[in-house]
Amino acid sequence: MKNILITGATSGIGEALCLNYQKQGHHIIACGRNEQKLAQLATYQNIDVIAVDLCDELQVSEKLQHLTALDLVILNAGSCEYIDDAKHFDGKLFARVINTNLVSMGYCLGALIPKIPTGGQLALVGSSASFLAFSRAQAYGASKAGVAYLARTLALDLKAQKIDVSLISPGFVKTPLTDKNDFKMPMQISAEQAAIEIVNGLQKRTFDIHFPKKFTYILKTLSLLPDSWWQLFSARTLQK
Ligand SMILES: NC(=O)c1ccc[n+]([C@@H]2O[C@H](COP(=O)([O-])OP(=O)(O)OC[C@H]3O[C@@H](n4cnc5c(N)ncnc54)[C@H](OP(=O)(O)O)[C@@H]3O)[C@@H](O)[C@H]2O)c1
Repeated sequence: MKNILITGATSGIGEALCLNYQKQGHHIIACGRNEQKLAQLATYQNIDVIAVDLCDELQVSEKLQHLTALDLVILNAGSCEYIDDAKHFDGKLFARVINTNLVSMGYCLGALIPKIPTGGQLALVGSSASFLAFSRAQAYGASKAGVAYLARTLALDLKAQKIDVSLISPGFVKTPLTDKNDFKMPMQISAEQAAIEIVNGLQKRTFDIHFPKKFTYILKTLSLLPDSWWQLFSARTLQK
């Protein structure tokens, strides 16, 4: 039985991951803010919950300090907001998204890395949105590009401690986060399918966990194009 901490466990991908690992018989520490959802998760055997706003550094250090050894930490909490008018750039929105998706991860890493023993694992949830520049995604894409860089550098510096790091880059997954989107989301999968991909990738200790593969390989290939080509292609097709 592994001791697994998951942030953003009250909804979408995090909740599906929580239930997947619970069914396998592991002990889960589920983090989130939604008290009602946390109470519901706490009714399951082997799920403990922590109510915490991850953007509040003090709360993060206070509420996570009592934890003992964690075999696997999955930093999944996040939000998505779009910049609808780049000409009148919304700096507050930008800060909000960067804080939720990236800065909060720094608080969690400070509190949790010391609790991951030799042989343990750390996973950061980024997004395939960071593979390419997408219209209106200045805040979300920048935050996830930051997460990707963070994961790559942590993989280097935690190697000596024998802690394996993974970067998880989902394509479109049906969750409350994407339910708000007003555009077509090709090759969208369910949160349960996403959880299976993540569980399998983490079991193999893969660094680069991305899915669904058909979608993410297309993005990875397009990301090899010069920026000017992508800008032309994007302007002609995606923004119509
Ligand atoms: N869905 C997709 O297509 C997709 C694609 C690529 C990447 N991702 C990434 O996958 C992760 C999960 O997304 P999702 O689609 O499952 O979204 P979701 O259903 O909206 O869930 C987001 C989770 O993050 C938690 N959260 C947000 N802000 C928080 C804060 N300040 N403190 C504590 N918890 C906070 C929420 O908890 P509370 O509501 O309890 O606060 C919730 O459990 C995110 O990092 C997202 O960027 C999603």
